[in-house]
Amino acid sequence: MKAFAIKEGIYWVGAIDWAVRDFHGYETPRGTSYNNYLIIDEEITLIDTVKHDFSAITIDNIRSVVDPSRIKNVVINHIENDHATSLDRIMEFAPDAAIYMTDKGKKGIERFYDISRWDIRVVKTNDTLRIGKRTLRFIETSMLHWPDSMFTYCHEDKVLFSQDAFGQHIASSGRFDDQYIAHTSQAELDDAVIDYYANILMPFGQLIKSKIAELGKLGLEIGMIAPDHGIIWRSDPNRVLSLYQEMAGGKAELSATIIYDTMWQSTALMANPIAEGIMDEGITCEIVKLRATPMSVAIKKFWKSRGTLIGGPTLNNIMYPTVAEFLTHLRGLRPKNRLVGAFGSYGWGGGAVKEAYEECKRMGLEIFEPGMQLLYRPSPEDETACYNFGREFAKRLKEYHATI
Ligand code: FEO
Repeated sequence: MKAFAIKEGIYWVGAIDWAVRDFHGYETPRGTSYNNYLIIDEEITLIDTVKHDFSAITIDNIRSVVDPSRIKNVVINHIENDHATSLDRIMEFAPDAAIYMTDKGKKGIERFYDISRWDIRVVKTNDTLRIGKRTLRFIETSMLHWPDSMFTYCHEDKVLFSQDAFGQHIASSGRFDDQYIAHTSQAELDDAVIDYYANILMPFGQLIKSKIAELGKLGLEIGMIAPDHGIIWRSDPNRVLSLYQEMAGGKAELSATIIYDTMWQSTALMANPIAEGIMDEGITCEIVKLRATPMSVAIKKFWKSRGTLIGGPTLNNIMYPTVAEFLTHLRGLRPKNRLVGAFGSYGWGGGAVKEAYEECKRMGLEIFEPGMQLLYRPSPEDETACYNFGREFAKRLKEYHATI
């Protein structure tokens, strides 16, 4: 896609990655984009670069607006590979440009490049850079989501360049929120925001709340949010701010998800009556089989529901590997405000349900006990017990949800 103006004198010069379906392990069914931005002012300023595979595209896009050798400033809001690994190519064209980044950004980027030849200027929150008619303000956002991360705000145009925050993995010819919604739906866009948040930003809820509050205290009026992935929020930037505030506060649906795997269908046979019991208490329930579902989708479904039951058989006295993998992913994301329980079948010694509870307790999740495990194959009596287990889980879920 060619460069286009997001505001008068500010251009998107990034690249659309239509084909990516595995973004360092995350399922990306909608593809993604690497957004970077060029500001034409007395000092021409580039904000972020793109993944190295797409460096020729961003250089062509820059060249369609201005000779890249005229770039005076390069702002690096985030050094992760998908945004900073075209920096060396950009600097070949503009070797005298000043590079603005945080102290942790500088410490990180020197692990990727010989920076001795570059003029790197370390910035802190509230430092400003006058580039002509415009003033850029830097706001450190360390651990949102890497130590180096920061936002850059353009006062005159009221644009927040937010790197990963408020982004989504979307490849689309519609580059703005209103354009994307016009050919898909608001629900589709919200789902992409939630998917991104659940898989990348879930651990940082408290920080997100405090950063959004900090933007308010700084008195920054936000007319547009230009993230480094996906669509640009020009029509309703407050919508994504509100969504983030809700998610950072632990918002979830009063619904249940059963996330399970199975060897010889016994745990699957438990999942169905458990779901029936949950639904008969008036709670929506979805059953997610791990080997049939990308990990990032399972994580999103966990995040959207207030309650989840983890199901898995015992294999060699421990958890089934896909269940253990899911719980390992989940632990890294530090989930909060969710009720969990566990169930599964076993052949001789058992152990999977106990291990699942141990993992969930390590995460500090709200625990529904006791779990349910049964020998080999559910009998008709066991199926009734599974149904009742589901009903009891749903009752507890309703009580718990009311306390959040
Ligand atoms: Fe899109 Fe943290 O990189």
